[in-house]
Amino acid sequence: MAHGGTGPQKPTIAQLDLFGGYEITMPSVAASALQVPNSRIREIAEAAMKMDGVLKLYFGESNVPTPEYIKRAAARALEEGYTFYSENAGLPGLREDLAAYYRRLQGVTLDPRSELVVSASGVQALNVGIRCVLNPGDEALVLTPAWPNASAIIRMDNAVPVEIPLPLQGGRYTIDFDALERAVTPRTRLLAYTSPSNPLGWVATEVEQERLLDFARHHNLWLLADEVYDRLYYGGATLGVPAPSILRKATRDDAVMVAQSFSKMYCMTGWRIGWLVARRDVAERAAQLNEFIISHATSFIQRAAQIALAQGEEELTRMLDRLKANRDFCLAALRQMPGLTVPSPDGAFYVFPKVNGLTDSFAFCWKLLQDTKVGIAPGVAFGAGGEGSVRICYAAERAILEPAMERLARFLSQS
Ligand SMILES: Cc1ncc(COP(=O)(O)O)c(C=O)c1O
Repeated sequence: MAHGGTGPQKPTIAQLDLFGGYEITMPSVAASALQVPNSRIREIAEAAMKMDGVLKLYFGESNVPTPEYIKRAAARALEEGYTFYSENAGLPGLREDLAAYYRRLQGVTLDPRSELVVSASGVQALNVGIRCVLNPGDEALVLTPAWPNASAIIRMDNAVPVEIPLPLQGGRYTIDFDALERAVTPRTRLLAYTSPSNPLGWVATEVEQERLLDFARHHNLWLLADEVYDRLYYGGATLGVPAPSILRKATRDDAVMVAQSFSKMYCMTGWRIGWLVARRDVAERAAQLNEFIISHATSFIQRAAQIALAQGEEELTRMLDRLKANRDFCLAALRQMPGLTVPSPDGAFYVFPKVNGLTDSFAFCWKLLQDTKVGIAPGVAFGAGGEGSVRICYAAERAILEPAMERLARFLSQS
């Protein structure tokens, strides 16, 4: 109630402070919330947003808007009355379409009723999946450098992320299975990895997938694969062929989960729609927990997602052509620059060059932004193994990438 009434007013905190005799005990923010670090990508982005004319390559999205046919599908769905609650696991029709999509593109058979849960984004799929398998105090191995959200979610669940860096060997990132073995303790319950990787562009080979699965089986761990970039893959017979899913290797009894999203492949970052594939006991729980988190993904957006799956291939191939050309352009430009080691990414839309001798990637990105108005993400934001590198998102158009590469080259030659 606003002050100014006639009755007695409660003292404010400042007044209470003056009353030396009072002991002030305030409810505090939970430790599990406080132990989640701020995003260092955001710190650069927030500074960049206050400046004019920044060439923005720090976030993981292109500036291409969602295709018209998807927008029209959402508008149509609103008119058709998709404005009510749906099932916690998502519209049955969308789950059937997702199962058909896996059959067609990955040769994998899924039961749409029991093994697929629609989520309100990839990050929500990660959230509910991780929540279903970790108890407080459990440990989760996370292959890094990686988008920081999985580790943050693990912390939010009062569990402990244990980051295991992917070493760079002969120009390619690899999995250090010895380090993984050494990191396992009686509390370890989960191994999480991302392929294609943000920020590395690394894609797990089939042999690596088999070894990850064997490792998880041997140690009785859940294996969580973040596959949100599976369609942004440049190593297939043709563009559009997805990076192979771990689901090709797993049986339906394996303790495997896959987090997925419409964000990247259909330029739908702001729509918030994705899905989780999981063994049926976890999928069932995830759908039930959804009731208490988000209830379900937005109904009319689920309908639009069905149309994206049905009609999206042509537009996707056009986008992949453009992304591959951008990737090749950036690789060629970066490899001309002094002091960089530039591994080739096979998927996603990032390059992650190592700046030789760099020990503070945040300071580097900060100075680059202030001096040249080029905004990129510091490697330190991606956990163990990330410091010393920087992430450049090449999903922007050439009119942005070209001057950005020129300015970066000038900056490096002057520093
Ligand atoms: C590896 C990875 N997983 C998940 C996501 C989340 O995608 P969504 O927009 O669906 O939450 C991102 C977004 O950048 C990502 O890079």
